[in-house]
Amino acid sequence: MPNRSVAIDGPVASGKSTAARAVAERLDLAYIDTGAMYRAVTLAALQAGVDPFNEAGVVALLAAAPIAVHPDARAPLGYRIYRDGAELGSLLFGEDVASAVSVVAAHPRVRTAMVEEQQRLAARSPVVMAGRDIGTVVLPDARFKVFLTASLEARVARRCAELWDRGVNCDQTQLRRQIQERDRLDSTRLVAPLRPALGAVVIDSSELNADEVVERIVALIRS
Ligand code: DC
Repeated sequence: MPNRSVAIDGPVASGKSTAARAVAERLDLAYIDTGAMYRAVTLAALQAGVDPFNEAGVVALLAAAPIAVHPDARAPLGYRIYRDGAELGSLLFGEDVASAVSVVAAHPRVRTAMVEEQQRLAARSPVVMAGRDIGTVVLPDARFKVFLTASLEARVARRCAELWDRGVNCDQTQLRRQIQERDRLDSTRLVAPLRPALGAVVIDSSELNADEVVERIVALIRS
């Protein structure tokens, strides 16, 4: 029987995490944001002074203190994420991590460790999991697969609005360049590149608001 889990993949700032969290709440499933796991490894490397390009160095950090994720609908992010017993918070979403994470996420051995943990989480109970390779690699048997995308301009505008909401200034030109570069690295890497899974329903959210995206996904699952 196919796995009841829902896989939601898509490029930077396509609205996957927001949609995945809301869909999980609607369906009473656990929500896992796999991007946060790659961000956590990246943060660990930066804090330890390990070069993000140094795969062996990053893997050694993971072996010394694995990343743990616990779904928790009441937590600010919808889950809690720990490394070495310490909860990680807003540092995960800072600029330093954003500009190094695609390099760290391209290391095959880092991906193997992350995918194992993600599959372990999904084996416990059905999940709504957001990422880049969920439908293709992590949960290829997921019954529902969505590839959420949006135009570059819509994604830049959304990410800027989020930053402004948090009181952070947004340089649209720089942000556009950073998003394009992360998309390029995520889609051209050799292992598990970003692409729609076979059978995934592609939703272009350029002209949709967050609620409309959630409605489409829930309708798809219920149909
Ligand atoms: O979704 P996000 O922007 O928080 O993801 C951060 C980075 O992690 C992104 O640049 C690509 C990588 N990532 C990945 O390679 N595979 C996943 N399943 C999730 C994220």
